[in-house]
Amino acid sequence: MKPSNRILSGVQPSGDLHLGNYLGALKNFVSLQKEYECFFCVVDLHAITVWQDPKQLANQTREVTAAFIAAGIDPKKNILFAQSQVPQHAQLAWIFNCVTRMGWLNRMTQFKDKAGKDKENVSVGLFSYPTLMAADILIYLATHVPVGEDQKQHLELTRDIAQKFNNDFETNLFPIPKPLIFGEATRVMSLRDGTTKMSKSDASHYSRIMLNDSPDQIVQKIKKAKTDPFPLPANLTEAKQRPEAFNLLSILAALKDQSTSEVVQLYAGKEFSIFKKELADLIVDKIEPIEKEIKKLLNDQAYLDSIMTDGKNKAMAEADSVIEKVYSVIGFLKA
Ligand code: TRP
Repeated sequence: MKPSNRILSGVQPSGDLHLGNYLGALKNFVSLQKEYECFFCVVDLHAITVWQDPKQLANQTREVTAAFIAAGIDPKKNILFAQSQVPQHAQLAWIFNCVTRMGWLNRMTQFKDKAGKDKENVSVGLFSYPTLMAADILIYLATHVPVGEDQKQHLELTRDIAQKFNNDFETNLFPIPKPLIFGEATRVMSLRDGTTKMSKSDASHYSRIMLNDSPDQIVQKIKKAKTDPFPLPANLTEAKQRPEAFNLLSILAALKDQSTSEVVQLYAGKEFSIFKKELADLIVDKIEPIEKEIKKLLNDQAYLDSIMTDGKNKAMAEADSVIEKVYSVIGFLKA
């Protein structure tokens, strides 16, 4: 029986987590676990498309796993695992490399952004990154994928790959997975520039709030966050034209589980100084317990590893049955 309500999502273990990872991904997953069968994958194979320090990577992988749990994902109810521990992802990704057309990957804007002017010198993995993402999703026959704005194009590609595989091999093995688009603050932007995404690779530490920032650091960063000389916007239309104000208002809305338009109304015409103080306090309130829980979990490596082994075993059982079907459809000998 094919699953009808199955989610897969992935988070990269590429260093410390920031507010964008929490509000843009982790927090949104928590509500999904009620309605869907969820697979949450720490995508370490994706992380190595750019250099990762081998001394750090295992800990980064544990840290993201801990962050899932600390954010409220129940590790018993959901399947939480590391991508590299389930080799079927890489196996299916290779097959998808042979289904995917060069032209499709050439259109991926994330690759263009990440490669920049250095196209000749980035890894081949960075280019074929989206075929691995398609494999992550389709190896579990996932029907839905929660995606932020920046991953929409990769999900479109996943749908194209599923469709072409099904057509080429005259099968209906793969579902055509649907996006689940989040509500408010799906994209947390830089505190220094409201038009670029909050990112761990931004040179300025003031551009992002890390989950492990101290309350003092959070207050300082919000105080210094770029704004404009006007009072807070009078309405949503005006807010949208002022990217830095809009970003801060959206962050507050997401933390309070309110709509941005409600929050805009609440602060319309007020001074940034008052708003910023409330925002900083709220961030500290929300983030501190999560960070404490992450630390606690990281101190209990045996527990974390047992969760991941359990997740790996469950994931692998599913992945194996799909790979077997894929092998048969393609005409490979039995694995
Ligand atoms: N590319 C995603 C990101 O950077 C991470 C990811 C990998 C993912 N595999 C996935 C997301 C599968 C959703 C589904 O955010």
